[in-house]
Amino acid sequence: MVKVFAPAKINLTLHITGQRDDGYHELDSLVTFATVGDELWLVEAGINSLTVEGPEAAGVPADMNNLAMKSAQFAGAGRQAAITLTKHLPASSGIGGGSADAAAAWRGMLALGPEGEAQAETQFAMPEILYETQARALVALGADVPMCVISRPLRARGIGEKITLVDLPQVACVLVNPRVPVATPPVFKALEKKDNPPMPEDLPTFADASALIDWLAGQRNDLQGPALSIAPVIGKVLARLAECPGAGLVRMSGSGATCFALFAEIDDAKAAAQAIRDDRPDWWVAGCILGDMFQKSLPVV
Ligand code: C5P
Repeated sequence: MVKVFAPAKINLTLHITGQRDDGYHELDSLVTFATVGDELWLVEAGINSLTVEGPEAAGVPADMNNLAMKSAQFAGAGRQAAITLTKHLPASSGIGGGSADAAAAWRGMLALGPEGEAQAETQFAMPEILYETQARALVALGADVPMCVISRPLRARGIGEKITLVDLPQVACVLVNPRVPVATPPVFKALEKKDNPPMPEDLPTFADASALIDWLAGQRNDLQGPALSIAPVIGKVLARLAECPGAGLVRMSGSGATCFALFAEIDDAKAAAQAIRDDRPDWWVAGCILGDMFQKSLPVV
């Protein structure tokens, strides 16, 4: 039996730089991962199966329409597993969700079996090698699946599958979703200008969270405007986050609707998460740390 964490994926920047002939968009995105996420338990079994439970389970398919099942089948290597997925992340919310579950199912399948644990550790330690050998196949499950397999701060180009690792400081964060699911394709469709400038070729070295926050202010999420036109409530979320004392940067992740605020001080993030929970019990709110999910000792917000 193995337990695998499926961290939320946060696009700190998302620059849309072009469109391929097949309709997929080219991007340049600085991505990091959160201490909040889904959990998967895998037990070796005679046939692959999926049970979905937890606070965000409503409406999540438990059959082959779930990417975690497709991914388990793809990774299987002759093994089958009974998977229990505990959903903490809202679906269709711009923070990975299904892609993170697919990536975790893939890691979990590798970790099952006699030599599995060691093999999985090797994969975590050498994501570049993992990328070389597996990314092409994993991107067929979804453009964000390869980056979620890595779950470390990274820069993604291509349609999301050209990945380089980057050094980012840990930063405290509050994630807020207004509980309006936003489908990704219409957001890309609503984007008028597709050839926006990428991030600078060379990223700076960030001494601490404040330096990262300051630099991010000059970058963008090009999908934020299109998503706002589809789900205007995103504007309310951004405004509420911006009111919080100590919120240094406020932006939407992915194609929305989840937005994040970054804080140089962890106590400010804790206070902001509690204040928004108190005001808006109808919204999903998570205080977390963003960083390298394979580094063990992350503080808890
Ligand atoms: O790859 P995935 O299935 O997650 O993508 C969902 C949809 O999002 C695609 O069908 C496409 O409309 C859009 N998309 C895109 N460019 C990307 C990623 C996703 O146009 N780089």
